[in-house]
Amino acid sequence: MSQRKIFATTALPYANGNFHIGHIMEYIQADTWVRAQRMQGHAVNFVGADDAHGAPIMIAAEKAGKTPQQFVADIAAGRKPYLDGFHIAFDNWSNTDSPANHALSQQIYRDLKAAGFIETRTIEQFFDPEKNMFLPDRFIKGECPRCHAKDQYGDNCEVCSSVYAPTDLINPFSALSGATPVLKTSEHFFFKLSDPRAVAFLTEWTQNGQHVQPEVAAKIKEWFGVRTNPDGSTSEGLDDWDISRDAPYFGIEIPDAPGKYFYVWLDAPVGYLASLKELLDRRGEDFDAYMADPDLEQYHFIGKDIITFHTLFWPAMLKFSGRKTPTRICVHGFMTVNNGEKMSKSRGTGLDPLKYLALKMNPEWLRYYLGAKLNGKNEDIDFNPEDFMLRVNSDLIGKYVNIASRAAGFISKRFDGKLGAVSDDGQALLAALRDAKDSIVASYEARDTARAARDIMALCDKVNSYVDANKPWELAKQEGMDARLQDVCSTCIEAFRLLTVYLKPMLPAVAEQVEAFLHVQPLQFADADRLLGAGHGIGKYEHLMQRVVVEQLDALFEPPAAPVVEAVKPGGEEIAPTITIDDFAKIDLRIAKIVECKPVEGSTKLLQLTLDAGEGKTRNVFSGIASMYQPEQLQGKLTVLVANLAPRKMKFGISEGMVLAASHADEKAHPGIYVLEPFPGATPGMRIG
Ligand code: 2FM
Ligand code: ZN
Repeated sequence: MSQRKIFATTALPYANGNFHIGHIMEYIQADTWVRAQRMQGHAVNFVGADDAHGAPIMIAAEKAGKTPQQFVADIAAGRKPYLDGFHIAFDNWSNTDSPANHALSQQIYRDLKAAGFIETRTIEQFFDPEKNMFLPDRFIKGECPRCHAKDQYGDNCEVCSSVYAPTDLINPFSALSGATPVLKTSEHFFFKLSDPRAVAFLTEWTQNGQHVQPEVAAKIKEWFGVRTNPDGSTSEGLDDWDISRDAPYFGIEIPDAPGKYFYVWLDAPVGYLASLKELLDRRGEDFDAYMADPDLEQYHFIGKDIITFHTLFWPAMLKFSGRKTPTRICVHGFMTVNNGEKMSKSRGTGLDPLKYLALKMNPEWLRYYLGAKLNGKNEDIDFNPEDFMLRVNSDLIGKYVNIASRAAGFISKRFDGKLGAVSDDGQALLAALRDAKDSIVASYEARDTARAARDIMALCDKVNSYVDANKPWELAKQEGMDARLQDVCSTCIEAFRLLTVYLKPMLPAVAEQVEAFLHVQPLQFADADRLLGAGHGIGKYEHLMQRVVVEQLDALFEPPAAPVVEAVKPGGEEIAPTITIDDFAKIDLRIAKIVECKPVEGSTKLLQLTLDAGEGKTRNVFSGIASMYQPEQLQGKLTVLVANLAPRKMKFGISEGMVLAASHADEKAHPGIYVLEPFPGATPGMRIG
């Protein structure tokens, strides 16, 4: 087959958060496909980028006190550990705020305009009078017009699922400022998808069986039919697409339209081309010439939530700006964890990719597990820990790695690392393995890695049956069986190499180790057509992969430990153990008037108070407040007396109660004691409680 020229991308992630497992799944799927293409000798450029623009990122940056550019750069700086960690090898990673993307997006727009596909229209939209900006639907909240649930978003209700326009909300408010939004008119730019040329092109493009999976084509077909709009009216065909947003907006300015920016979804897919251009520029290759090649194939890997953008808007933008349209949009489903439970970090059910790596879990376990589940359809897949452990341990360790570990030792120890001739039964086995190549390659091509994995494991089973039937460990003990032992073990090593070729797109790092161990060049699919042959020397076998252990999975899904909060010590000491109201009622606190206050001779700490608590007699109380108050400061003031405290005999006389005063537990660090004084209106004798 002649060499194919392919340009492949994954969806560009918004630059407002770290990658989650859903991103990693998509990248692993695409990376596996790209590696399989390269192993057939095809030339692939595989690029990605951060999706930098849009109101949510602008707002998040403002909240973080950063410019949007800085905010996006900080997110981008965190991408590498994920990509390297899971062996995801993009040739370039850019961002949609790049100069290349500004230029290309503006050029595509100009070309669309010249072709008569751009129209302006005045629309009415909610405007935040405090923030001075038009509000995206997600930033308008209010009461659902149907079920009256409070605090619902401007586009749909999370309680009753109804879909409506922000203007339908009852008591709408801006989620940014809380202000009541006002309706304001603004001129918007539309891409005329309703143009008969666009409808005709997209109908053919989406339904001709060449560009999307059948289940995706069926879904798209519904959008061309009759629909009921939120206001009850019906429409048919395609609606024009609003591609502009008003300043302030983090995006690309629309040429000749001051204060107007492209809606993020206009320039995001152009970012695919801009990232490719960056890569080619860096290599000194001509982007225009590359794109002009009619044989160039363009593949986009995306999730099922962004089908519209990639199967309607994007092909139409390319087509009517006079550019090459995509070859294929490869749609995958969502990834769930633990039987479809919604992923949530706080509940610990999510699978945090960095935690996975930090726990030293092998990235190729995940690559293989996901590969074994993905079948090229846009179906959801579930990560189930038990299933994961079983699948990895039984397939990769029990079936695949086992083959090498059962044979390699004998070749090294008994035959000086040299392979021998393979006799007929071994040749038959190896021929069966070789014959599977085309079908396995076809599975990779169709992204049906589940089928590839199934077929490869069936081949492993065949090889293991051969080992069990020939028992090299017994041959090793038998006199005169050396030649047979070398034959059987050589068959195993030859088989292992073929299996490694087939698994390499999913297990690139293991394959590299195997290449080193077998003393061979980087394996290609074509290498499955031949054998190493007698006399080939192999290296020492080092264990290729550990088993998954349950403790790792427990740790992976263990909810994040609650942050250790230092016990708070108000005023320098912890709050005392709880008491009941009855306990409190035992303490009789009364308002008392300080009728007299005197220093205590012989004491620097104490003041002597004569208190009137409305009892018809006064009380004598000593209080350790001399450091803070002159007696005359207190005389005549009201304070709080613990009236039922047992009288206490002191050096200077009997104290008949105690006045309440505040102090810090650490007197040295926080000196001071402060007598309590009630608000005006309290009179002596009143009980406090
Ligand atoms: O849905 C998303 O995460 C978008 N940022 C995907 C953009 S894909 C492409 F068009 F850039
Ligand atoms: Zn509702």
